[in-house]
Amino acid sequence: MIEFKNVSKVYPNGTKGLNNINLTMQKGEFIVVVGLSGAGKSTLLRSVNRLHEVSGGEIIVNGKSITKAKGRNLYEIRRDIGMIFQNFNLVKRSSVLRNVLSGRVGYHSTLRMMLGMFPQHDKELALKALDRVNILEKAYSRADELSGGQQQRVSIARALAQEAKIILADEPVASLDPLTTKQVMDDLKRINEELGITTVVNLHFIDLARQYATRIIGLRAGEVVFDGSVDEATDEKFAEIYGRPIQDEELMGVAK
Ligand SMILES: Nc1ncnc2c1ncn2[C@@H]1O[C@H](COP(=O)(O)OP(=O)(O)OP(=O)(O)O)[C@@H](O)[C@H]1O
Ligand SMILES: [Mg+2]
Repeated sequence: MIEFKNVSKVYPNGTKGLNNINLTMQKGEFIVVVGLSGAGKSTLLRSVNRLHEVSGGEIIVNGKSITKAKGRNLYEIRRDIGMIFQNFNLVKRSSVLRNVLSGRVGYHSTLRMMLGMFPQHDKELALKALDRVNILEKAYSRADELSGGQQQRVSIARALAQEAKIILADEPVASLDPLTTKQVMDDLKRINEELGITTVVNLHFIDLARQYATRIIGLRAGEVVFDGSVDEATDEKFAEIYGRPIQDEELMGVAK
C-alpha cells in the first residue's frame, strides 16, 4: 500500500529529517511510529502525501509513485490519503457537517465547491461517517462547540467521507485527556478493522502503541531502528529506539 524506497529528506537548513528509509506498509495494517522528539515521525508521515517533498528516493502509494506524480495524478493519489492532525485542522466556525463534507472536495470541480454545492450522495456519506464515529447528533453544531475528542472524531469522519484508503494520523491524541484518547484510538482501530483502511499513527506513549498497533516502527535520528510486532517491541527494544530507558512520562496508563 505504501512503499518507501531509499527515502531521504534534508531540510533547507541542512537538518537531516529522514535518512535512507526503506519500508513496505501493507493494506490493512495498523502501524504505530514511535521515537524521541525530533526522530523524524512527522517528516515520515508528511512525506507520504507530499506535505513535505523528499530530497531523495521514492514513495509508492497504491502502486503509483507520489514522488513523481504531477497535476491530476498527484491529486488523485492524495484523494486516497486522509490526514489527521494533533490540532484537528477543522474550520472552527463551520458546522460539523460542512467540515466532514470538505473531505469530498477532491471529487468535484472548484467552482462547484466554491458555491458549496455538494450532491446528496456526499451528504449521505458525510452523515454515515459521523454515525460511524458516534457523533451524528452533532452534525449541525458549530465545530468549535465540540470537545477536543469530538473534534478529533469529526476529522476522522472527514477522512471517511473522503473515502480514504489510507489514514495518516500525526499525534492524534496528544491534546486529549486519557479517556478521550481511548475513544479516539478505539475509533481509529475500529475503522481500520471494519473498513480495512491502512492506518499509520505517530504516538509517543509506549503503552498506547502496544495496545493498538499491529506493527511498531521505531525511528531514531531519521532512521528505522526497529520494525516488528507488538510482542517483539519489548521494554529493551524501546530503550534502544530511544537511546535510553523508558521514562514514566512515556506511559499514559490508559484504562483498558
Ligand atoms: N521545517 C523544518 N525545517 C528544518 N528542520 C526541521 C523542520 N521540520 C522538522 N525539522 C527537523 O527534522 C527532524 C525531524 O523532525 P520531525 O518533526 O519529523 O520529528 P518528530 O519525530 O515528529 O518529533 P516530535 O515528536 O517532536 O513531533 C528534527 O531534527 C527537526 O528539528
Ligand atoms: Mg512530530
